[in-house]
Amino acid sequence: MELKIEKLDNYGRGIAYFNDKICFVENALPGEIVQVEIEKEYKKYIEAKVISYKKVAPNRIKEECPYSNVCGGCQLNHICYDDENKFKEEKVRDILKKFTNISTNIIKPIASHERDYYRNKIILHGKDGVLGLYQKKSNEIIPIIECLLVNPKINKIIHLLNKVNNGIDEAIIKTSNDNNQVMISVKGKVRDSSLLLQNSDVFILNGKCISQKKCIETQIGNKVYQEGIDSFFQVNNTLTKSLYDEVFSQIKGKNYQNVLDLYCGTGTIGIYVSSECQKVIGIDCNISNVLDAKNNKILNQINNIEFIYDKVENQIDKIKDIDVIIVDPPRAGLDKKTIHYLKKINPVKIIYVSCDPITLARDLKDLSESYDIKYIRLFNMFPRTYHVETVSVLTRRN
Ligand SMILES: C[S@@+](CC[C@H](N)C(=O)[O-])C[C@H]1O[C@@H](n2cnc3c(N)ncnc32)[C@H](O)[C@@H]1O
Repeated sequence: MELKIEKLDNYGRGIAYFNDKICFVENALPGEIVQVEIEKEYKKYIEAKVISYKKVAPNRIKEECPYSNVCGGCQLNHICYDDENKFKEEKVRDILKKFTNISTNIIKPIASHERDYYRNKIILHGKDGVLGLYQKKSNEIIPIIECLLVNPKINKIIHLLNKVNNGIDEAIIKTSNDNNQVMISVKGKVRDSSLLLQNSDVFILNGKCISQKKCIETQIGNKVYQEGIDSFFQVNNTLTKSLYDEVFSQIKGKNYQNVLDLYCGTGTIGIYVSSECQKVIGIDCNISNVLDAKNNKILNQINNIEFIYDKVENQIDKIKDIDVIIVDPPRAGLDKKTIHYLKKINPVKIIYVSCDPITLARDLKDLSESYDIKYIRLFNMFPRTYHVETVSVLTRRN
């Protein structure tokens, strides 16, 4: 059947209508007329795939990635970077309008840097001698020799892994933000592990660390952070500093006493802002993160920060006398108990770092009963994908 694409949905898919039913079409842009085949029909909507383009949008660009539309990693390879940024701004605006009464005028322009080679981490999967990424909507693996998202050092290691692959099940590659330090963890069999050891700073084979070093270190601003293989670290090499600077700008010079850094990971944001307050408490439920956070405190010679290893929801009711709360939860956002206690602790400011605009909107709606949402700034931390990071600043209403 032939469809005219009206607009994009939150996942970058084209939206069209067929017999009053909404159709989602991947790799289709507003204004395009496409011949599609139905992939799945549900009660309320249809998922369809393009067979041919009858009319192509003038802003469509050539997809440079050889795995485009096969690998599930990128959804926006056919959109230029400016349009991608506009799409992300529009998406956050639409979600706010749909789920809240918060004015969309508070959205600040998106911060972005580069479209390619920005990631400092990749996870490869292996099966039957093939090493690569999962095919879209499947457990099949497509072999890859390069990925446009990761930095050149990681691409070099992907090449090496393909050379020594003798039954790799999984490989994780991480680099420091300046791309100088490399960490590789391989599960499965390799032909020549010394080659991987020579080309990395940290090398872990089947859970055992073979190299002398166990962590890599990354510089962000004037702070240095170590991260282990199991620790969380922001994946964008350059924009992470801008994200942390945004949070810092909200704390700098304000004479705040106590700051709470919830979902603190390896303690990065808490340590980044620690010079601007009396005391910081960080909470995270991943032991690798908390151990790295405690080492990061020492590495940066910081005395006014403490880390608690637990779930936020188990600790939040024990906390009081806080001026600023920073939250950076996973995609699920904040749970009801945490929101309840955030309001009860009643800090003058809440800084909400989010990687999911839908759960962000849900939580802002709830928090806006007691807080004014001052602004939301977008960060294009994940170019070529539909994901977008945001920093929202909330101030207590008197
Ligand atoms: C998006 S990361 C934020 C990390 C950190 N702010 C940074 O910039 O590196 C979310 C973190 O929340 C942690 N986490 C997930 N659920 C949690 C929970 N219920 N309680 C505490 N930490 C949690 C994860 O371990 C992860 O480190």
